[in-house]
Amino acid sequence: MPHERLSQRSMAVTESSTLAIDAKAKALKAAGENVIGFGAGEPDFPTPEHIVEAAAEAAHHTVYHRYTPAAGLPELRAAVATKTERDSGYEVEASQVLISNGGKHALFNAFLTIIDPGDEVLVPAPYWVSYPEMIKLAGGKVIELPTTEETGFQVTLEQLDAAVTERTKMLLFVSPSNPTGAVYPPHMVEAIGRWAHERGLWVMTDEIYEHLVYGNATFSSMPVAVPEIADRCIVINGVAKTYAMTGWRVGWMIGPVDVIKTAASLQSHATSNVSNVAQAAALAAVSGDLSAVAEMREAFDRRRQTMHKLLNDIPGVTSYEPEGAFYCFPSFTDVIGRTIRGHKIESAHHLAEVVLEEVKVAFVPGEGFGAPGYARFSYALGDEDIAEGLNRVGDLLSE
Ligand SMILES: Cc1ncc(COP(=O)(O)O)c(C=O)c1O
Repeated sequence: MPHERLSQRSMAVTESSTLAIDAKAKALKAAGENVIGFGAGEPDFPTPEHIVEAAAEAAHHTVYHRYTPAAGLPELRAAVATKTERDSGYEVEASQVLISNGGKHALFNAFLTIIDPGDEVLVPAPYWVSYPEMIKLAGGKVIELPTTEETGFQVTLEQLDAAVTERTKMLLFVSPSNPTGAVYPPHMVEAIGRWAHERGLWVMTDEIYEHLVYGNATFSSMPVAVPEIADRCIVINGVAKTYAMTGWRVGWMIGPVDVIKTAASLQSHATSNVSNVAQAAALAAVSGDLSAVAEMREAFDRRRQTMHKLLNDIPGVTSYEPEGAFYCFPSFTDVIGRTIRGHKIESAHHLAEVVLEEVKVAFVPGEGFGAPGYARFSYALGDEDIAEGLNRVGDLLSE
């Protein structure tokens, strides 16, 4: 039998539903249109100066022109362990930390290390777009657990009970959440951790937005709330969101020593170490204080409240009040079916296309997050742009 041109594995990956809109927004911008983009998944602040300086300094030393151990600079692994205890209260050793190319690569390594073909992974939806694709690439089966604003976009123990089977190997737990901004209260983090522990499941907990929580919400780390899960728990984190360092590509996974060793050996064949200079920058970031993120958090909190209000003022739109990260996740279900400037709106994706075309505002439709009818709006952009962009959407939907 002739071979297929491309592998089944690569063909199984779903094309990002955001790509088409993103490409269109960029083309409009390049053509000189005043496009307001709510699509960004990154802080709009510069990386703090002392971190940039540490990288510049490192770049002048030959030792930073060389490979580091594949698992990362030993001093960075140790500093991440120290930072983790400082920030979340989770006590770990440097040998339990693997430095990777962003939280994304850490997640990828972790899924490949734990998941076998046919293993089921419980994934509460709406979810961040990359999780299902990574699980599929590892051969795993994604079991979606849908949630809505009625439960604050939080999965319930009843839902977990109904979904678990003897093939379930892992629960993915993300709080604060991208795309919904939901933050589980500490008692639910503990209840879900106990639930997983009693069933012998692995938990992958993505803590990348740990410092971006607002109002009365508090971040709680699952292996701290339920220390018994430590032997089957992987924590994902990185410098991207806390220190405005998305482009530097430094993240990490924390887990039991055997998992870290195996994942490090996997990484050693794929990418080797993360850029040495970027590791020097990350070392300055995690060893320093949290004043920069405190400033960003204040700005995000103000924008969050503005955006939440402006979205709810738009006829047909309802927005849950996010408590973490930097996204609002409004529902447009009442807009679907309406006719806007001659377009009969068929889906959130279609709405995103029409809004971009008609008023030059870009946002990410919910389909890719497992949430048709919803959309993600990032508030990681200036206050004036937020107001201008949402006024344009509001005027269009009020016509
Ligand atoms: C929930 C979540 N986890 C992980 C990541 C990956 O971050 P990075 O690879 O930039 O460190 C992101 C980025 O958008 C995210 O939103």
